[in-house]
Amino acid sequence: MAAAKKRLLTGLQSSGTLHIGNYFGALKPFLDTYQQYHSMLMVADYHSLTTVKDAALLRTNIVNVVLDYLGIGINPEEVIIFQQSRVPQHTELAWIFECLVSVPFLMQAHAYKDKVAKGLEANAGLFNYPMLMATDILLYDTDIVPVGKDQQQHIEYAREAAVKFNNAFGPTFKEPKELILKGAGTVPGIDGEKMSKSYGNTIPLFGTKDEIAKTVMSIVTDSSGERPANVYAIHKLFKADAELETLYSANKGNYKALKEALIEEIEAFVAPMRERRENYAKDLDSVKKVLEEGSEKAREMAEKKMTAVREKVGVTI
Ligand code: ADP
Ligand code: TRP
Repeated sequence: MAAAKKRLLTGLQSSGTLHIGNYFGALKPFLDTYQQYHSMLMVADYHSLTTVKDAALLRTNIVNVVLDYLGIGINPEEVIIFQQSRVPQHTELAWIFECLVSVPFLMQAHAYKDKVAKGLEANAGLFNYPMLMATDILLYDTDIVPVGKDQQQHIEYAREAAVKFNNAFGPTFKEPKELILKGAGTVPGIDGEKMSKSYGNTIPLFGTKDEIAKTVMSIVTDSSGERPANVYAIHKLFKADAELETLYSANKGNYKALKEALIEEIEAFVAPMRERRENYAKDLDSVKKVLEEGSEKAREMAEKKMTAVREKVGVTI
């Protein structure tokens, strides 16, 4: 008998436009493997409420994340696509986890520490963010979570929440593992730093050719070497090493030609996805239906788990 299929789950916040870092870090590993698993894709809309305070914007962003998922080629028939806020069991379980972990433990979280280090005031939602994320993963007995390297700590937090709960109330939650794509752990931005929407150094995944060209042309190059390191680092994601060697040897010092080659490469890669996304965007009702039906399924699964959890913690009398 074949072994039972494992559960694969990942999520994206509905907080902005996808960039190629998101694609190679989180989406590609999912896209490459999801058909081998019982797969789920979540729109982390409550997570994005830690930063987005504009209802119209949040609404648009939620639909955009689903369009992004469909645009990259995810088949909605083969994966449960759902919206976090439509499954209230997430916030319910988050509270229970928060009662199990300590404040100093949560204070170690990078997202929180970085904010405080920058002198910004973190809201309590941001502080508790890792416990809400733990529920996203643990409610569905997830085995594998494809994410970028920066999310690794959050998966550790999820494991810790599972262990804390299991120790206190008996075996209930599976300990999940992260899946980080080799070579794309951290995709650099056009300035060589980690590509991130908060640093304004991104190449948009669904940008028009002009937008792609504009960002690629502004990749920072240092003039000391023959090979522009930042251009190469991004190029590597799209082309095999051997082919790149030939291209870069033939164009030593010719940064403009190399950037133009990269633009063509990205455009060839992005164009079919952009077209697919545009087609889905013509029928937003169907897109919303995907989310509604997926959320319904997720809610059923989450409720089953929460029934056991409520029993174990003792709130059922
Ligand atoms: P951003 O840093 O732009 O705000 P998010 O934090 O919303 O991106 O990340 C969404 C997903 O994309 C996460 O799984 C994250 O690990 C991945 N990701 C984001 N930026 C990168 C990057 N530069 N390289 C690899 N993966 C990334
Ligand atoms: N925190 C993740 C990010 O910023 C998004 C996320 C929320 C997520 N819940 C998740 C990722 C569950 C994987 C699994 O990118």
